[in-house]
Amino acid sequence: MKPISEQIRQKPWLGWLLFFLTAGVVFLLGLLASSIMERRSEAVFAFTPQVEYGQFEPRNAIWGENFPREYQSYKQTSRTDFQSKYNGSVMIDMLEVDPRMVVLWAGYSFSKGYNQARGHYYAVEDIRNILRTGAPVDGKPSPMPNTCWTCKGPDVPRVMNEIGPAEFYRGTWESKGPEIVNAIGCADCHDARTMNLRISRPALIEAYERLGKDISTASHQEMRSLVCAQCHVEYYFNLEKFEGIEYLMHPWDNGFSAEAMETYYDNMEFSDWTHALSRAPMLKAQHPGYEIYKTGVHAARGVSCADCHMPYISEGGQKFTDHHVQSPLNNVSASCQVCHREETDQLVKDVYERQDRIIQNRDKLEELLVRAHVEAKKAWELGASEQQMKDILQDIRHAQWRWDYAAAGHGNSFHSPVETGRVITTGITIAQESRIKLARLLSELGHNREIPYPDISTKAKAQAFIGLDMKTLNAEKQRFLDEVVPIWEKEAEKREATYKVHTLFD
Ligand code: HEC
Ligand code: HEC
Ligand code: HEC
Ligand code: HEC
Repeated sequence: MKPISEQIRQKPWLGWLLFFLTAGVVFLLGLLASSIMERRSEAVFAFTPQVEYGQFEPRNAIWGENFPREYQSYKQTSRTDFQSKYNGSVMIDMLEVDPRMVVLWAGYSFSKGYNQARGHYYAVEDIRNILRTGAPVDGKPSPMPNTCWTCKGPDVPRVMNEIGPAEFYRGTWESKGPEIVNAIGCADCHDARTMNLRISRPALIEAYERLGKDISTASHQEMRSLVCAQCHVEYYFNLEKFEGIEYLMHPWDNGFSAEAMETYYDNMEFSDWTHALSRAPMLKAQHPGYEIYKTGVHAARGVSCADCHMPYISEGGQKFTDHHVQSPLNNVSASCQVCHREETDQLVKDVYERQDRIIQNRDKLEELLVRAHVEAKKAWELGASEQQMKDILQDIRHAQWRWDYAAAGHGNSFHSPVETGRVITTGITIAQESRIKLARLLSELGHNREIPYPDISTKAKAQAFIGLDMKTLNAEKQRFLDEVVPIWEKEAEKREATYKVHTLFD
């Protein structure tokens, strides 16, 4: 081949072609470089702090100035427009859907009101609205302690930092009403200086210590579940640790299973309330979501809560964590299809199938429990002795604990269908045993016919059956919301105006 200079001399157009080709390539390279620079400056912009605030800054909007994408997606937890077959962000009146629960909780505040949750954005609003916290007006205290605020938002670590956890828990619920005003947010899960995930709730750290584990050595992937385990877990209020304080604890010293926690509670003869019909010493499971998740196949394969409920998403070339914590079924492509090749329809069907099957058995267990409570009531009426009832009441306690353990976490039947199904099955067995004993006792007491199943086909009928005066309860609540809550809000506004926030750029 001839040298290039000779070729160009023979065919001058070849020179021009080479010239324009080179210019074109240089131009395209320039475009690419400028696009990269732009994206980089965008990335730098996203992480350049705009404001400086304290470690315990509770206001999510202030953090949001530095992290607009995370904040914008966090704010989406205010949406209430997604409903799956059993869950989602629409508030569901669970007592209306399933009035048997009213009877199961007779004598306990859950029989007054129990809703399927909406989302993190509503944590403070919903605890004010729910009938369980009562109507503390005219100096009348709430029936609940301040401990109930613990999972509601970033004002909790702020106040705990000021006065310590025990003093935080001390007193009835209305006394810290003006303090806890910001819903679940940044400071609950993040360290303000490093933005690392952090555990802000002492109960979880202490429970790990009692198990001989140091939570600060948890891996990054474990932390992506442990931040949720601060709240989505079973807990109870311990009265023995500090005089006059209902101290938040996790009953995990013997393990995380329904049986291990049941033994823990039995050994300390703990009960949440005495059942109004059967007089059984009852346990209320809170929401052992983390405990049950740990028994499932996803946990076994190292999939974290955040992998499904806070997947990575992309916007303007920027990959970030979707802070719209919600049902993953509203976003199957980001939540499931990063790992699974199946179509959306198939994955949703997989979830529903597991839920349907568990709920079928759960409903059966509920019916057996309603019958056991009503039959025990009859036995008392016919003159049964404490001694005759003791064993039976212990069975009712255990069977209902297992029902609640399995049912209270709304994700359980997907997170770990086999374990959830197993716990319900053991509950059915124990409930039936209690009813065999009851049948024997009732016949000894001269009654050998079926005790009729009560008409509890609606929430209103069930509440009337256990003797609740809902009209008065609702009217008192409305007065509290109209008169007391605005005062709390004003007080909080005044306090927040004194927090130090430093603007770095104008
Ligand atoms: C319920 C816990 C939780 C809350 C509340 C929360 N985050 Fe996060 N955040 C996470 C998790 C989990 C990650 C992923 C961290 C990882 O894997 O390193 C994350 C990641 C981040 C990151 C790192 C970049 C990214 O997007 O992955 C930033 C910045 C951030 N969050 C800001 C915020 C801000 C601002 C708020 C309040 C509006 C907030 N977070 C509230 C759990 C939370
Ligand atoms: C500070 C306590 C707290 C932390 C931390 C927390 N949650 Fe929640 N979560 C709540 C409360 C309280 C609600 C109910 C809020 C409402 O609707 O009033 C809730 C509601 C939810 C809901 C929707 C409501 C439902 O049950 O249908 C989902 C999903 C959820 N949380 C998942 C998570 C995940 C995943 C994490 C960890 C990344 C997490 N949460 C961390 C307290 C917390
Ligand atoms: C980070 C990866 C990952 C994500 C995200 C994920 N999965 Fe999985 N999933 C797995 C692995 C791994 C297994 C175990 C299968 C195996 O090892 O063969 C599994 C198993 C399953 C199974 C069968 C196990 C059972 O319970 O019977 C179903 C169903 C399933 N996933 C559905 C889902 C759905 C629905 C989502 C989204 C809400 C999801 N997965 C999100 C990794 C993932
Ligand atoms: C493999 C994916 C996956 C993992 C991991 C996972 N979840 Fe879920 N979660 C789901 C699915 C699917 C549902 C059912 C949603 C529905 O029915 O709409 C669900 C439901 C829930 C709900 C009820 C949501 C609602 O809309 O009412 C909560 C709360 C929850 N999960 C919390 C957690 C917590 C806390 C963890 C970690 C301990 C966790 N999840 C781990 C997939 C997952």
